[in-house]
Amino acid sequence: MTGENQSFKDTGLRGVKVASTRISNVIGDEGKLIYRGYLINDLAKNATFEEVCYLMLHERLPGVRELEDFSSELKRRRGVEDEMIDALKTRPAGSNPMDILQGSIAFLANHHPHPALMTRENELDIGISLIAKMPTLMAAFDRIRNGRDPVSPNSDLGHAANFLYMLTGEVPKREIERIFDICLVLHAEHSFNASTFTARQISSTRAHMFASISGAVGSLSGDLHGGANERVMEMLMEIGSVDAIDDYIRKQFESGGKIMGMGHSVYKTKDPRARILEPMVKDVSELNGDKKWYEIATTLEKKALAAFTEKGKTGIHANVDFYSGALYYQLNIPIDLFTPVFAISRISGWIAHVIEEQFAEAAPKPMLYRPSADYVGEYCGPDECKFVPVEERQATST
Ligand SMILES: CC(C)(COP(=O)(O)OP(=O)(O)OC[C@H]1O[C@@H](n2cnc3c(N)ncnc32)[C@H](O)[C@@H]1OP(=O)(O)O)[C@@H](O)C(=O)NCCC(=O)NCCS
Repeated sequence: MTGENQSFKDTGLRGVKVASTRISNVIGDEGKLIYRGYLINDLAKNATFEEVCYLMLHERLPGVRELEDFSSELKRRRGVEDEMIDALKTRPAGSNPMDILQGSIAFLANHHPHPALMTRENELDIGISLIAKMPTLMAAFDRIRNGRDPVSPNSDLGHAANFLYMLTGEVPKREIERIFDICLVLHAEHSFNASTFTARQISSTRAHMFASISGAVGSLSGDLHGGANERVMEMLMEIGSVDAIDDYIRKQFESGGKIMGMGHSVYKTKDPRARILEPMVKDVSELNGDKKWYEIATTLEKKALAAFTEKGKTGIHANVDFYSGALYYQLNIPIDLFTPVFAISRISGWIAHVIEEQFAEAAPKPMLYRPSADYVGEYCGPDECKFVPVEERQATST
């Protein structure tokens, strides 16, 4: 006997509204992304990541003095405990950086005097500290796994430049700093995507901020979510040249494989972030004097779009991961750090959501998420299964 509700369709919650939010809006059919009322295009052009973090956490853009204070606080809190660095040294060099990040955030809770104190001030304080420390942890792990000493944070540098500095030991050029800063702005927030929903869902149990954020990191690591940017670069490398694109698309279609970085569960037009990133990939290619990856990516996008349309699959366009992969690669960021870089930015949105989940003043007040499921398992007979002691059960395998 199977479940009774035969009309149930597994939708992955597409289009189901589970809460109200004041943080961001994704208008899929128009290709628009709005952070607290501001268009992403406007923010990418004019704002720094620090300004966007402030907007996320304080619900408005900062004034000059507020931004200075906020940036100074982030700088002051970049350092991590020696025990954390020692712990990173004990990790196998081949560990996945997203696993390291997820574990490190849980570890940080052990170093906090009151991780579970559920006040808005405490949650905000933890959030700011996590935004400040995540880049330090990831850069330190990358250096340690390559047999090098971690580089201490540089308080003369902004958030974006400091991460690249801690990774390479060199202060990035101004153009590169701004390009990376825009990447952080673009990835900061995206409404109820999988990892944000994970953070909110954990938070709805009144678990602490560290638990919500480490869970969100786990969710972001999957290939259908944040992990796609790494898979995109691997795909571009596998393709290797513009001439090999047709063959690659044909093989993917024949095998039922995906063109990574294309398609989105909400956008049915080109992702506005991909529109902003594409010319940035061109700029970096020109700075590096090698347009190979730009040419492969743009040609693949055009050809894949045509192939999807020919198959009657409309609305599958480049998403944010399509161009961020090629961009990070040309900034010399190791491929397995692409998703941690996404996390280093997205944490600002996660924190805003956790705070909204717990302290939203507007009705309706968020509740513990507890959906139901359509049971389709066996009953083994007219009623429930009768328990048979282990000695009396028929062996089912030899
Ligand atoms: C992101 C994603 C999961 C969104 O999925 P969705 O909107 O729910 O759409 P579906 O997965 O239901 O796909 C609809 C159809 O288009 C196909 N499709 C969607 N994206 C595709 C892609 N990138 N490559 C090939 N086929 C794709 C699906 O196979 C499905 O075909 P079917 O109807 O024959 O089964 C999906 O587009 C995907 O897997 N993309 C690649 C991974 C990626 O880039 N993820 C990052 C997202 S920001």
